[in-house]
Amino acid sequence: MKQILVTGGAGFLGSHLCERLLSLGNEVLCVDNFFTGNKRNIAHLLNDSRFELMRHDVTFPLYVEVDQIYNLACPASPVHYQFDPVQTTKTSVHGAINMLGLAKRVKARILQASTSEVYGDPEVHPQQESYWGRVNPIGIRSCYDEGKRCAETLFFDYWRQHKLQIKVVRIFNTYGPRMHPNDGRVVSNFIVQALKNEDITIYGDGMQTRSFCYVDDLIDGMIRMMETPSEFTGPVNIGNPGEFSMLELAERVIRISGSKSKLVFRALPQDDPRQRQPDIGLAKRELDWEPKVHLDEGLANTISYFRQLLA
Ligand SMILES: NC(=O)c1ccc[n+]([C@@H]2O[C@H](COP(=O)([O-])OP(=O)(O)OC[C@H]3O[C@@H](n4cnc5c(N)ncnc54)[C@H](O)[C@@H]3O)[C@@H](O)[C@H]2O)c1
Repeated sequence: MKQILVTGGAGFLGSHLCERLLSLGNEVLCVDNFFTGNKRNIAHLLNDSRFELMRHDVTFPLYVEVDQIYNLACPASPVHYQFDPVQTTKTSVHGAINMLGLAKRVKARILQASTSEVYGDPEVHPQQESYWGRVNPIGIRSCYDEGKRCAETLFFDYWRQHKLQIKVVRIFNTYGPRMHPNDGRVVSNFIVQALKNEDITIYGDGMQTRSFCYVDDLIDGMIRMMETPSEFTGPVNIGNPGEFSMLELAERVIRISGSKSKLVFRALPQDDPRQRQPDIGLAKRELDWEPKVHLDEGLANTISYFRQLLA
């Protein structure tokens, strides 16, 4: 049994990670400031004596004893990370410094939840980990993209300078139950609009593509990454390479939910990437991992979660 700290543990991905780590027999300390996370996401874990919840902001130092740290704290959707962009950068950068400092003090292994946004609006497709990215440093998405890039830099400097055991995963679009219902992310947007039989909003012509990884697959990849030999640091892409246009996604959501919604088209937001798809060759080789859940199956689970939530 390990003692494991999950920052951002009351969020969408964090709550699934806490649940999985407990089911594997570990003790879990969930740290969250509830900016975008919610107690509802982890309410079912509170009766487990191996689970502990702590309200804390990672931009401040934390003193606890743990064996492993999964650093997920950071608002992840544009609506939320653009709400207070300075705090977003602080969360990524000061949060990384504080968690790396903690890892150094207690000699814990630490994993960073980085993002495909470090590739920005990429010129290469699909993106391999060796691609350095094309990111606007002064735009409205930069607080998130550059914050996450700087966090990666800090992880690798702590590794080189202090010999920390680091792991960096670059997460591509992930969806599933417990996504925030109105954070503007495409899957939750479409599902909520479809369940309310409202118009489904497509930005641009809807031909821009995204890949969508179901949360269970993602969590499996993250845990496998944490358990790799110490010399393997990543970064490693975790995502589902299956590529779908926004139009295809909307049509699937309408079909699976049995909705009467119509599609409406709106202007593309600033710096919105046209295309993003992970190359998961490295994850396949090093983690023996690849996604298993088909989009229709994942959407059905997510739709049934939102159906209950909206009821
Ligand atoms: N979901 C995705 O598709 C995706 C893609 C790429 C990367 N990621 C990364 O994965 C992580 C989790 O994302 P998510 O989708 O679960 O988002 P989320 O918003 O549901 O979870 C983030 C959690 O961090 C907490 N948090 C935010 N600022 C904090 C702070 N200063 N101190 C303590 N807690 C704080 C929030 O309250 C929330 O519970 C994030 O770091 C995100 O950047 C997610």
